[in-house]
Amino acid sequence: MADIKDSIFLKNLRGEPCDRTPIWVMRQAGRYLPEYQEVRKQYSFNELCRTPEAACEVTLQPIRRFGFDAAIMFSDILTPLEPMGAPFDFSQGGPKLEKPIRKEAEIDALHTYDANEGTDFVGAAIKLMKEGLGDKTPLIGFAGSPFTLATYLIEGGGSKDFAHLKAMLYSRPELLQRLMDKLTDQTIAYLQMQVAAGVDAVQLFDTWGGILHPADYATVVLPCVKRIMDSLKDSGVPRIYFLKGSAPYLDLVTTLDVEALGMDWTMDLAKSLPLMEGFAVQGNLDPQALFGTDAQIRRRALEICEAGKKAPGHVFNLGHGITPPTPISAVETLVETVQGFRR
Ligand code: CP3
Repeated sequence: MADIKDSIFLKNLRGEPCDRTPIWVMRQAGRYLPEYQEVRKQYSFNELCRTPEAACEVTLQPIRRFGFDAAIMFSDILTPLEPMGAPFDFSQGGPKLEKPIRKEAEIDALHTYDANEGTDFVGAAIKLMKEGLGDKTPLIGFAGSPFTLATYLIEGGGSKDFAHLKAMLYSRPELLQRLMDKLTDQTIAYLQMQVAAGVDAVQLFDTWGGILHPADYATVVLPCVKRIMDSLKDSGVPRIYFLKGSAPYLDLVTTLDVEALGMDWTMDLAKSLPLMEGFAVQGNLDPQALFGTDAQIRRRALEICEAGKKAPGHVFNLGHGITPPTPISAVETLVETVQGFRR
């Protein structure tokens, strides 16, 4: 029987020698897949996240179709916020919170909960996913970083300028800190529950951590990320930190105790690696490159694979989530190219 620990995805995260580069892509379970769209006809997005059998099915879809080297559990970074008292509605496109969380009393009203109860459906889904994946394809668990979650809570949804969050940062930093601390506690419990349920690696998504001055990133964001990652140190699963827009913060993120750092497409892998010594790296093709010609996709992907050889471990990924209009054939070309590459 194969041991999941010997999968090339986990080996790369641990920095062990491998002859090829594993690939998965952020948002690989999602709307660019016709089979996902089929399932979505029967469930709203929120229902899908809360129904273990359906979440399992959409997690497996991209593995069946493309043979990615890792699966990511289907859920959303905002899912664990509902049991805190902040339910998001996804029916209008982007996530929308009925009432943004901005006042002291609103922050205090958010409650932490036992992750085995409030998010029991995630644990149940992980068990089904592990069964469905067998002993070859590892399963990635994830959470949003407290700062990225805070942007959605304070803005009440997506934002372009993060005006409310920044107003809080510059006028009442202690209030933002209180929210961050609460989210950090809950995120630790949430990820530990996922590890106990069986995930093989965890990724912390920090989509909006990159909107701050580095000094504010260092005081507001980094300590919370550190607390989460440190709490998982002895869990036995590799930890990946994906910070979109991380280029100006490399000296800060490399102080973290994690196995791997995710990179967006604005970084030149070859030039950045000397600044990231000791870390496995994950990334970093521009998701929009999948709208280029096959020859371009191959060329760009091979450049990234070639540069990645110099890291202790390299997991190929996009620099951010795959977008819904992406042609299936482009993903096929990408997977074939990366899996065909030999170090
Ligand atoms: O990667 C995967 O395949 C696993 C599932 C996953 C989803 N969202 C499914 C999803 C993961 C890991 C996420 C992470 C997530 N969610 C992030 C961090 C990564 C990133 O992309 O920046 C963020 C910021 C969110 C919040 C979120 N969820 C937004 C802003 C939206 C709406 C915009 C959009 O892309 O549609 C969602 C909805 C969402 N999450 C969908 C999916 C498949 C689309 C829902 C649908 O089917 O209608």
